[in-house]
Amino acid sequence: MRTPLVAANWKMNKTIDEAVQFVSGFAAEALQLGSSGESWPEVLVCPPYTSIPALAALFAGKAVALGGQNMYFAEKGAFTGEVSPLMLKDLGCKYVILGHSERRQLFGETNDLISKKVRSALDHGLRPIMCLGETFEEREAGKTLEVCREMLLEGLRLVKTDEGHAVTLAYEPVWAIGTGKEAEPEDAAEVAAFLRERMEEKFGQEFAESVRILYGGSVKSSNIRPFMMHKDIDGALVGGASLDPVEFAKIVREVAKARPRPDLA
Ligand code: PGA
Repeated sequence: MRTPLVAANWKMNKTIDEAVQFVSGFAAEALQLGSSGESWPEVLVCPPYTSIPALAALFAGKAVALGGQNMYFAEKGAFTGEVSPLMLKDLGCKYVILGHSERRQLFGETNDLISKKVRSALDHGLRPIMCLGETFEEREAGKTLEVCREMLLEGLRLVKTDEGHAVTLAYEPVWAIGTGKEAEPEDAAEVAAFLRERMEEKFGQEFAESVRILYGGSVKSSNIRPFMMHKDIDGALVGGASLDPVEFAKIVREVAKARPRPDLA
């Protein structure tokens, strides 16, 4: 049984002060959520690196994990501007988002590079959230599954068959990111099921069943529910809507209602 996960991807947003304000807003909402007796999904916040230490202090002892939005695969060295898995671990990160479409499109990240980052994250005890998804043109051309298959298998090429529990995928159609136009839940579920089948072929059933698959792309509290009704979708990667603590808490609550945590039930 997979534990649902709601992850915030803040991208390049919020100064340290703004991040601290988010926590007080979210904590106030979360207290109300907690009292309603729902079993929370796992909650993750991936802020810019600069805010991670402040958030780590504020979230200490709370059920909110922290993650990086990217990292390089080497532990250290002459890689100006990069951050290493050891450094993310140092800050208390449990997760790292890898291969986000903005990294692929704006910074030229390839499946090969992403596969090395995934391997390095696992080697350092960080849980990778590997993002993949088709562009609008690829969807229009009927290539969605083909493109996602390639990103999946190339990105996971260095992963071992017993590492499924540590791997999360985020299916994020590029045309749905930041546009306000979410995918049809049925279409996202079809891709998620397809990804699971391909993982089963490559890594076996146990691996395929333990990998969590998130949907991402214009997720809000008003549209997440139907995605969670599909068994292959295990949560959400939320960009814009995660910047507002009240709205992010509402998304967490929607996921909790739709899919109670198996380990807390
Ligand atoms: P969005 O971003 O929710 O703003 O569409 C999602 C993401 O890029 O992870």
